[in-house]
Amino acid sequence: MAAIPEGLLVRPARVEDIAAVAALEAQLFPDPWPRHLFLQEMGQPFRFQRVIVDHYGAMAAYLFACWQVDELHILKVATHPVYQRQGLATSLLDMALAEARRQGGRGLVLEVRPSNRSAFLLYRRLGYQVLGRRRRYYSDGEDATVMFLPVEGS
Ligand SMILES: CC(C)(COP(=O)(O)OP(=O)(O)OC[C@H]1O[C@@H](n2cnc3c(N)ncnc32)[C@H](O)[C@@H]1OP(=O)(O)O)[C@@H](O)C(=O)NCCC(=O)NCCS
Repeated sequence: MAAIPEGLLVRPARVEDIAAVAALEAQLFPDPWPRHLFLQEMGQPFRFQRVIVDHYGAMAAYLFACWQVDELHILKVATHPVYQRQGLATSLLDMALAEARRQGGRGLVLEVRPSNRSAFLLYRRLGYQVLGRRRRYYSDGEDATVMFLPVEGS
């Protein structure tokens, strides 16, 4: 599993993190989830949620996922610009894969915008395969590319 850079800490997300998560989300996504959606996620069962914070407690990266039957669906993964290209998203996705394996899941599934080259390259590098497209999935009408990573041996 990819190492977290020194000085950073990974832990389960907490309700107190959501203001910082939503602020970073607003900075990084064209159609950011509002704070209440993250809060709603926090209260749900069958979830996997991690944050990476620096030694001051500032938000460096986050991942939110939910179980859909035997697949762990990556809802959100994002890294603060200051910490990008240091393996944080890779680490979070590795942890999600380990969780899926631990729980006997079949694999990880996610949607990505075809225009989001960096995210697409990240997933391809980790072995995700394109399953297909969801037409006009995003609020601005862009399609989504659906990608899947099987848990080995499942
Ligand atoms: C996509 C994103 C999550 C990647 O986070 P990250 O922590 O920088 O990713 P990593 O450091 O683990 O990247 C691993 C690999 O992915 C690929 N990659 C990541 N960002 C890339 C970029 N901007 N350009 C090209 N390749 C990129 C590279 O292969 C990279 O390996 P390398 O740095 O050794 O070349 C981050 O850019 C981000 O938060 N973007 C905005 C939010 C977003 O789009 N989230 C995904 C929605 S589907």
